[in-house]
Amino acid sequence: MLKTLDKTQIKGKKVLLRAAYDITLSNENNKWIVPDDQRIRATLPTIKYLLEQDCRVILMSWLGRPEPGQIEDKYKMDAVANRLSILLEKKVKKLDQTVGPEAASNISKMKSGDILMLENTRFNKGEIEADPELALEMASLADFVVFDAFAQSHRKHASTTGILENHQETCCAGFLMEKELTVLGQILKGTMEPFVVVLGGAKVSDKIAMIRNILDKSAMILIGGALANPFLKAQGFGVGDSLVESAQIDQARGINFDPVEIARELLAKSKNDVVPHELLPEKWPNGGPIKLSKIQLPIDVLTAKRNLNNGFDDETIKIEKVNSRSNLCDPQDSILDIGPRTTDIYSQIVKRARTIFWNGPMGLFENFNFSHGTKKLAEAIAKSKAYSVIGGGDTEAVVTKFDLEGQFGHVSTGGGAALSLLAGEELPVLKYLEI
Ligand code: 3PG
Repeated sequence: MLKTLDKTQIKGKKVLLRAAYDITLSNENNKWIVPDDQRIRATLPTIKYLLEQDCRVILMSWLGRPEPGQIEDKYKMDAVANRLSILLEKKVKKLDQTVGPEAASNISKMKSGDILMLENTRFNKGEIEADPELALEMASLADFVVFDAFAQSHRKHASTTGILENHQETCCAGFLMEKELTVLGQILKGTMEPFVVVLGGAKVSDKIAMIRNILDKSAMILIGGALANPFLKAQGFGVGDSLVESAQIDQARGINFDPVEIARELLAKSKNDVVPHELLPEKWPNGGPIKLSKIQLPIDVLTAKRNLNNGFDDETIKIEKVNSRSNLCDPQDSILDIGPRTTDIYSQIVKRARTIFWNGPMGLFENFNFSHGTKKLAEAIAKSKAYSVIGGGDTEAVVTKFDLEGQFGHVSTGGGAALSLLAGEELPVLKYLEI
């Protein structure tokens, strides 16, 4: 059972609030700003509750992947503290250290209801390796840890498992952590059927374990984005110059990993599974009915040729059918979006689903020319009567870009963490947050 904040005696405590503010900052007029504050807003219920409980609130997070020991402006927490000050209508003092004399002295001067933000934990050597000395220093900053950093809860760092190791009896989960675990846990336990999973984005390595775990629980898995490429290759299609993740070692799980091989294995495993009748489209797009599979790949794609500036010229854009031709596109062309027929069929399927989990865009949605598949599908999921859970860095960005806030059941703040949980893996912080 999770140790929750509402069941915890927290009044007046000095609290280390572990939040996940891993936000890609943008630069405007030489100033780093937060372009999308969803992750900050998501922590407001916990922060406001702690302030109402007269706590002294010390916020801690990492942002990006700086070189350990090196301080870079684009990874500093100042922009996050500024944005939080605006949202709270209260000054959030930002320190230039995570641990050390400046942090200690500022914290010692805090009064009830004060809030401050520490510097990026990943600026410290030892953070990623979960160095026990660093973890103890971090833990010593406060009497109690409220862990609300769901998006960072799949990592064993000094600022995750390390601080909790030192606060085993003095920690609990924050409201965001609790909500994320409840919603995603519900998907794993059993959902309203049919359950449809929509997966896109680039990295197969992030999603493979999750597909394996969720294959039996889902009625269909709709694949798009660069994730489709190794699956198309596994079916024998040439994908030209498209992005295909290469064979590698999965560091987190310590296994050799060839995306095309794994795609082949997953397709073979699901090949006899029948798609439930109630998911089949009511109206087939031009070309008539086709046989759908449990792991469904695009039936058409948008391709274009990369130019010398690393962009794509309009006149090279083509719609290619995924049919019996062995090469889907010319060797110099890349697949950049799902095609119109795929978009139509996928949209009709999500309309008829009762539960949807969506992670990862269907194409290079940042470029208008290749944004249609992702936009139309996002709108279809938003309109669907199904309970929809969406998550993953880029997927959150899709919601903001296409003005779809508030139209999904739950927008998870955790990409890797959500996938890890859905892959059936235990989040390492739960050892400390559960009784
Ligand atoms: C996230 O936002 O998904 C986390 O901060 C993960 O960060 P990492 O992949 O750099 O460890």
